[in-house]
Amino acid sequence: MGMKAAVFLGGGNITGALAAGLRLAGYDEEIVVYDRHPEKLRALRRKSRVEIARDLKSAVERAGMLVIAVRPASVMGMVGEVAACGVAAPKLCVSLAAGIPLQNLRAWLAVPWVRAMPSPVARVGRGLTALSFDRGVTKSERNHVRSFFEHIGAVLEISEKQFDTFTAAYSSSHGYHALATLAKAAQEVGLDRATALAAAAHALSDGILYWRQSGRRLEDLLREAVTPGGIAAATMSAMDAAGYLRVVKAGIRAGVKQARLNARR
Ligand SMILES: NC(=O)c1ccc[n+]([C@@H]2O[C@H](COP(=O)([O-])OP(=O)(O)OC[C@H]3O[C@@H](n4cnc5c(N)ncnc54)[C@H](OP(=O)(O)O)[C@@H]3O)[C@@H](O)[C@H]2O)c1
Repeated sequence: MGMKAAVFLGGGNITGALAAGLRLAGYDEEIVVYDRHPEKLRALRRKSRVEIARDLKSAVERAGMLVIAVRPASVMGMVGEVAACGVAAPKLCVSLAAGIPLQNLRAWLAVPWVRAMPSPVARVGRGLTALSFDRGVTKSERNHVRSFFEHIGAVLEISEKQFDTFTAAYSSSHGYHALATLAKAAQEVGLDRATALAAAAHALSDGILYWRQSGRRLEDLLREAVTPGGIAAATMSAMDAAGYLRVVKAGIRAGVKQARLNARR
């Protein structure tokens, strides 16, 4: 039996993205994964050098840190299996599940828990992970979790009260959705598909990259890009007047509501 490792229960999308991002960042320690689909495990071993756990018990035995990476509806069952597997769970347990509160996790398995919300963009090393800790998590365990996720991008520690809103707001789907919507609108008004996508991708991605890299204030960049009385000004005020903020807020609220439903199932 090898050394204690980071052990993922669930070898799906997010585990695949995290494992790839960790390897890309040069993370050289063992990553152990357990899943009920052997073919997913073999693909992860091939792509990201993970070690396959043959069953749940051996996975839990290996765990210095146990990461629950199954769908929210499967978390209670998975954690119940851990509690009943006959080996003591490690003291450091992390849940990636959207919407499942620390309180529920604690009730299913009595250890101090960490909630982590990573991004699939971790795959290319540009992740962003929010963390929220149970009070019982020690300072050195906090640092351990933080540096683990720092391999694949920035880490924010937030209060659990903010967690669901963060989850709804930070998803990389917003970038893809905005790109698809802006390109579709431009296409309907007269651009061909390829030109519309190129224009929209520049507008969103390069503009935001410029904001990040320059360190300039958003207000100043808006002033630079939006000439009074010009085209961008007309476009932006028509969008605002049509309820841009209102529709985006409705989306975020719906996401938060969905996250809260996960807590009750
Ligand atoms: N995808 C994202 O971008 C993302 C981002 C942040 C957080 N998360 C969170 O991460 C979690 C996982 O999401 P995902 O997209 O990676 O899901 P996923 O692709 O469905 O992966 C979960 C894997 O775990 C397996 N599994 C579930 N219960 C099991 C059990 N009792 N024993 C063995 N294997 C089991 C699933 O098999 P079956 O298909 O047979 O159930 C599946 O292969 C979710 O809670 C989600 O909220 C996801």
